[in-house]
Amino acid sequence: MLELIPVLKREEIEASTASVARQISSDYKGRPLVVVGVLKGAFIFLADLVRRITIPVQVDFVRAASYGAGATSSGKIKLTKEIDIDIAGKDVLVVEDIVDSGLTLTYLMDCLKQFKPETVRVCTLLDKYERRQSKVKVDYACHTIEKGFLVGYGLDYNEAYRELPAIYHLKFQ
Ligand code: IMP
Ligand code: MG
Repeated sequence: MLELIPVLKREEIEASTASVARQISSDYKGRPLVVVGVLKGAFIFLADLVRRITIPVQVDFVRAASYGAGATSSGKIKLTKEIDIDIAGKDVLVVEDIVDSGLTLTYLMDCLKQFKPETVRVCTLLDKYERRQSKVKVDYACHTIEKGFLVGYGLDYNEAYRELPAIYHLKFQ
């Protein structure tokens, strides 16, 4: 049996996204910014975030596959879609749905750094810290969560629940 327990309301996500977008707009004022979303989970958050950012941005996506089917990390990460925009000398903001072990992000940051960007920072909707294995700096986090498997607003479990407008804790029982 799977049970969905409400964790974050739509309004709470809207408010935190607006606040983070304001901060990003101010931090990168006058600098060209490339926003790189991590597919698939970040697609809804990125869409809402860039519409609230008030400076011009370029948008690209990478696809990092780390989990496969299931709720625990396989530890193996590969990029199944690379970046298309030339990021050399530019400021890059990686947008994630959730940072869990940090392994995906560490791998991704190393990949992106090969293209010689000026800076690379991280923005995540959810910073889930209990299982962190890799030292990654999360520069912007909308919400900090200790543990649990979360779905909705882009986050999935075996490709289900991405379309939910709010965030839920998926309880396996
Ligand atoms: P990490 O490499 O362990 O930090 O995992 C990052 C990726 O795992 C995220 O981008 C998600 O796609 C997935 N993930 C981690 N925790 C959750 C969760 O609670 N719900 C859904 N996906 C998750
Ligand atoms: Mg993801």
